Amino acid sequence: MALRLPAAMRPLRTFGLTKPSAHQVRWLATPAHPVTRDSGRGTAMVFLNMGGPSTTDEVGDFLSRLFSDGDLIPLGRLQGYIGPLLSKRRTPKIQKQYAAIGGGSPIRKWSEHQCAEMCKILDKICPETAPHKPYVAFRYANPLTEDMYRQMLADGFGNGRGGRAVAFTQYPQYSCSTTGSSLNELWKWRQRLEGKAGPLDDGSDGTIKWSVIDRWPAHSGLVEAFAQNIEAKLLEYPAEKRDKVVLLFSAHSLPMTVVNRGDPYPAEVAATVHAVMNRLKNVNPYRLCWQSQVGPQPWLGPQTSSSVEDYIAKGQKDLLLIPIAFTSDHIETLYELDEEVIGESGHADTVKRVESLNGSPVFIQALADLAKSHLTSGIACSTQMGLRCPGCKSERCAESKKFFASQQI
Ligand code: FES
Repeated sequence: MALRLPAAMRPLRTFGLTKPSAHQVRWLATPAHPVTRDSGRGTAMVFLNMGGPSTTDEVGDFLSRLFSDGDLIPLGRLQGYIGPLLSKRRTPKIQKQYAAIGGGSPIRKWSEHQCAEMCKILDKICPETAPHKPYVAFRYANPLTEDMYRQMLADGFGNGRGGRAVAFTQYPQYSCSTTGSSLNELWKWRQRLEGKAGPLDDGSDGTIKWSVIDRWPAHSGLVEAFAQNIEAKLLEYPAEKRDKVVLLFSAHSLPMTVVNRGDPYPAEVAATVHAVMNRLKNVNPYRLCWQSQVGPQPWLGPQTSSSVEDYIAKGQKDLLLIPIAFTSDHIETLYELDEEVIGESGHADTVKRVESLNGSPVFIQALADLAKSHLTSGIACSTQMGLRCPGCKSERCAESKKFFASQQI
């Protein structure tokens, strides 16, 4: 079997050079990297999500990062001042909520599980990009984006060695305040850690080549996983009532300033709901409502909590809540929906919640199928990702989008 030399060494052999160039001297004088650009290191699969504190001690830092993020909570010039104040004030209350759900968020456990299991499937169904190495990058909690990036470099990606990585958002529906914020953060750390790389002999710069799975609101596997969980929960209602249960899809809300800027999220959440209802043959009546509003500013409604109260007041007590914009359990399902909305409804026997996707094998297979189509598509990101919101004024958005859209895969 022919031995394939690292790219930087090939000119020496091919042209019989006896005197190496300055760059080659630098290359030869440097201890060999353990992994070269041709060593078959495979593909890094990076799950992006907001994350959550794994312990109550992490709540303060988590909230501080969250309220400092102008992509998520736009506070303008006062962000650096108001953000820490808000996070400090909310910390004791939120710590109690995390204590009530077992002392921390399960989002890290589920994200690491889903990514690792997806990579195992990918190794089998997509051998041309194997091995697939799982990474998780959270926006506000450990493992943070910067730590994930440093780990990738330590694992042999980048630093003159190239390699391919896929940023796979775990928000199925794109919002500039969620996926957009995570990508802006990823771009920021990429510029800091790899932005100064110079050209190598083969014309590349040896940095990591990124592509992005930026949205997948109506992917058939995602729709199937939601539908199966809904069908399973509907079986808990008496047969004669089952078709009349109102399905209340619930997604995290957005401030109206973000919606009116032209954020694509409301339309994409509606696309998921529409696809799931079609898969369920539109038997049950349904509504889409929005949860987790904070502060006095107007947010997208109707709110999930008031929708439940209003339907109960109208005599509709069979209500099935469906978290439709998150792929695992987190405080918004375990505390806000289970403890507050259902717990305080007075009808916990008829107001129920569908299981989150968590370890669903149907869902994990869907992640692998989606990733395989992306890996073999040669596409850096969706066409939609290249388009900024009509009201976007953020240079960070402009630069980050330009970077990801220009990647040559
Ligand atoms: Fe949507 Fe910048 S806010 S692209």
